[in-house]
Amino acid sequence: MSPVPETPIMGQLAKQPVKPLLRTLAGLPSARPPLWLMRQAGRYLPEYRQTRFEAGSFLQLCYDPERAAEVTLQPIRRFGFDAAILFADILLICQALGQQLEFRENEGPVLEPVRTAGELTRLNPNGIHKTLGPVYEAVGRIKAELPPSCTLIGFAGAPWTVATYMLEGKGSKDYAAAKTWAFGNPIGLNTLMEILIEATVAYLDRQVQAGAEVVQLFDTWAGVLPEQEFRRFCIEPVRRIIAALKEKYPTLPVIAFPRGAGTMYEGYAAATGADALGLDYTMPLGWSKDHLWSKHVVQGNLDPRLLVVGGSAMAEGVHRLLSTFKGRNFIFNLGHGIVPETPVRHVEELVRLVKGSEALA
Ligand code: CP3
Repeated sequence: MSPVPETPIMGQLAKQPVKPLLRTLAGLPSARPPLWLMRQAGRYLPEYRQTRFEAGSFLQLCYDPERAAEVTLQPIRRFGFDAAILFADILLICQALGQQLEFRENEGPVLEPVRTAGELTRLNPNGIHKTLGPVYEAVGRIKAELPPSCTLIGFAGAPWTVATYMLEGKGSKDYAAAKTWAFGNPIGLNTLMEILIEATVAYLDRQVQAGAEVVQLFDTWAGVLPEQEFRRFCIEPVRRIIAALKEKYPTLPVIAFPRGAGTMYEGYAAATGADALGLDYTMPLGWSKDHLWSKHVVQGNLDPRLLVVGGSAMAEGVHRLLSTFKGRNFIFNLGHGIVPETPVRHVEELVRLVKGSEALA
């Protein structure tokens, strides 16, 4: 039997990624946008609460490869999302660097804050893999069990956001300690940035080696800095991380989420080398369409509270997004993470609305 002759189009198709998220990140058109949700594994799911209970604590869950893989896959099985995001936390790297970290019930993360530049010498970016080994093992396990159309996203916190927790010791309302470093001791903060850049590149490199196909950088507190400091402590470290990753993995797609960046979103992708921009829920759709979507892949940005409210308010928000960003360059997501009080049936309805939009395309 003679083999089927290969046409140029078949050659092209063979080179095109088949996974919906990878296709969109490559700039290819699609009938409906790929869909995943920030914090899609979490407390709103009864099966997550059960596995977390069995693990004993949030951190024990993060460092248990089997259970971390299990909670990563739970929302994929339930909702059929187009991407799975590794279950871990942006603050594990602080612990891996040698800082004390705990998660207290109803309080969130608590770290022993770094108070002086001298204390930075205690942080060791070369020793991180010992602590983070179970995370890489989880990545491998998830990859082995993932449905063929589902993309595995690895992630890390961007250095500025991780630094805010390292310097404040917890979440903050005014970022007094971190901003005091940014304005009063920028050289000291730069030293911390160097440590975090090195550690983050090494961390993401290992995630990619273990099977992550895309990485996302979370800069949750990017929006609290004025322009000059935003350029120095948000844009520049993210640019360095992406450049180092792309040197080793030229085709690795990187999504950046500089939450609260406002009009500084414009120019951010070009300045950092990010392939896609995660929009927070405050970003106006018209402006984002003209200034960002015209040049870049965008991801977002339904308000997570709309997912709690559900009904026609949520449906309208979904339709506004679908009709604004039509055909290509759009990944459907929330504008920040799912909150624990989200009803599961509202997530089901959201999935139905987004996946159903294919029939209307
Ligand atoms: O998105 C996912 O499903 C993947 C896992 C993931 C978690 N945290 C799990 C988690 C990811 C990508 C993160 C990122 C993260 N962690 C960020 C950046 C994104 C954002 O939400 O802004 C930040 C700032 C953190 C730090 C963090 N982790 C805080 C402030 C808290 C406490 C607040 C809270 O929601 O409880 C966490 C805890 C955390 N991280 C939980 C989960 C599922 C809840 C912990 C629990 O189960 O008790």
